[in-house]
Amino acid sequence: MEKKVIYSAVQPSGNLTIGNYVGAVRNWVRLQSEYECFFAIADMHAITVRQEPAELRRRTLELAALYIACGINPEECALYVQSHIPAHAELTWVLNSITYVGEASRMTQFKDKSAKHAENVNMGLMDYPVLMAADILLYQTDCVPVGADQKQHVELSRDLAIRFNNRYGETFKVPEPLIQKGGARICSLQESTKKMSKSDENPNAAVFLSDDRDTIIRKFKRAVTDSDNCIRFAEEKPGISNLLQIYCAFKGCTMPEAEREFEGKGYGDFKLAVGEVVADVLAPVQEKQRQLLADKKQLSEYLSVGAERAFKAARKTLSKVYRKIGFWRE
Ligand code: TRP
Repeated sequence: MEKKVIYSAVQPSGNLTIGNYVGAVRNWVRLQSEYECFFAIADMHAITVRQEPAELRRRTLELAALYIACGINPEECALYVQSHIPAHAELTWVLNSITYVGEASRMTQFKDKSAKHAENVNMGLMDYPVLMAADILLYQTDCVPVGADQKQHVELSRDLAIRFNNRYGETFKVPEPLIQKGGARICSLQESTKKMSKSDENPNAAVFLSDDRDTIIRKFKRAVTDSDNCIRFAEEKPGISNLLQIYCAFKGCTMPEAEREFEGKGYGDFKLAVGEVVADVLAPVQEKQRQLLADKKQLSEYLSVGAERAFKAARKTLSKVYRKIGFWRE
């Protein structure tokens, strides 16, 4: 039987947080042998908000190295840079012609980003979900592992696939979102009900995969808790519960096990233990990333192998699309 196809991507804007690691990249590693995987570095999405060119270039490579350092095997998956595959832009143009301005302007993220970047509400920002639909549909994707914030975009991809298939005949597979549930939601260390975000203005809110040991431990030391001095998972204790979840995710233990381990202990010791386990897990990942970045030739070789595989799959779908919509070709 043919393997099912998984597609996901991350933008090379900003640093990845431990939330991205637990909620996204680490799960992809688990999926890679079971599915045919396409993982992209979404540089074309990134430019919908202003980027410093040198920084975008650096972050693209850093993200590629990080994916591999986290355990993505570039010989098993197609790991590639989105802008290396022209078909993404080409399919976007076709899909634009079946996307209504109304539905694009109703996207929650578009509305949020328009408010945040009021001085730069560009066409790309509105077209962002259509480009994302092109990413997904080009590879005849079955499942799209994403965070809850991207679910609406995957739903638009489904709508566009169905609309196109109805109008022009069966062309695209209709993808399903694969939303990680439960323990995957890691919150800000400063506002425990808000998702940990790489763009948070408070420098102590997020722990980045690039943070060194001292920084990690310091951030956990400053994490907000409560005055109850009891380490247990409870809705009315969002700060402690978040730290416990992070502990479980990095230690690989269950919540009852973690609660038992810290029974009767003080918050200070607990926060230190959380910081230490996170730092211990990240240290080898950071070391591997450093090694990969030191050998740019090897790294770009990995990315071109990925691009080659992506290119073939994408071409096949795009040719079919062009034929169906009536683009003449000899
Ligand atoms: N928009 C996604 C995000 O910011 C990244 C992305 C781009 C993506 N293309 C995709 C995710 C296709 C899944 C599938 O998180």
